[in-house]
Amino acid sequence: MGKLDGKVALVTGAGSGIGRASALRMAAEGAAVMCADIDAAGAGETAAAVKETGANAATDMALDVTDGAGVEAALGRTVEELGGLDILFNNAGVGGAEHGWDRTIAVNLQGVYHGLVHGAPFLAARGGGAIINTASIAGLVGLTGPAPVDPAEVSATTGAYVASKHGVNGLTKQYAIIYARSGVRVNAIAPGYIETPMTAPVREFEEVRQGMANLHPMGRFGQPEEIAAAAVFLASDDASFITGIVLPVDGGYTAR
Ligand SMILES: NC(=O)c1ccc[n+]([C@@H]2O[C@H](COP(=O)([O-])OP(=O)(O)OC[C@H]3O[C@@H](n4cnc5c(N)ncnc54)[C@H](O)[C@@H]3O)[C@@H](O)[C@H]2O)c1
Repeated sequence: MGKLDGKVALVTGAGSGIGRASALRMAAEGAAVMCADIDAAGAGETAAAVKETGANAATDMALDVTDGAGVEAALGRTVEELGGLDILFNNAGVGGAEHGWDRTIAVNLQGVYHGLVHGAPFLAARGGGAIINTASIAGLVGLTGPAPVDPAEVSATTGAYVASKHGVNGLTKQYAIIYARSGVRVNAIAPGYIETPMTAPVREFEEVRQGMANLHPMGRFGQPEEIAAAAVFLASDDASFITGIVLPVDGGYTAR
């Protein structure tokens, strides 16, 4: 018996990294999964990978989480195509200086806001559900590595990312409280550095990679499957009395 038998999940940012690993794990635990991503091809590859495992039903769609109406439509489309909606994983995000302040806030914070503002009442009206937001250790503390940041650039680089993820944690707690009696649990996961395409640039040079790994007391990067496991737990009925938490999955990064 799977932890998510009979449930339906919508995963954003499902075309890569943590979202892909989570779609696969959720399906393995018995959920039917809508794989949504701005990268339609990536979303399609994830849905195909789920179907290949034979674990459960999966489908895919192009979705830009900065488009609120698009997020709202994705909820309805998931019900139409997969027969329900119990789990919303607001996972899509961007990292890196090239995105700047506006895009980083639009995707990481406003994208999650769109998931909450449309998803929470939608799930409440259906009798309840679980929302999980991907935050970060950068939603709990400021970032220190890998290279010194030019103070003149901080708002557009790590500042934007840190602000967006602190915002996600705040929204998570506020929505958890407001929806606590509507059967909708809202939680966040705060990953440490995870081996996904997002961190490929900092893993490119061995010295930098090792320095980043050493920021975690466990001395390594995490794997996307380790975040997927936490997402499955928070989505499952095992977490029935858990709402409003930010769960670090970070090899001890924030314990220091
Ligand atoms: N990798 C890490 O070290 C790490 C650490 C902490 C938090 N996170 C967070 O985890 C989440 C997933 O990141 P990842 O590491 O899997 O990165 P990734 O780059 O592998 O995957 C991110 C996915 O989000 C999609 N995406 C980007 N903008 C989007 C938009 N506007 N609408 C819909 N989809 C969009 C991308 O196309 C991509 O498929 C992000 O929120 C990220 O901030 C990652």
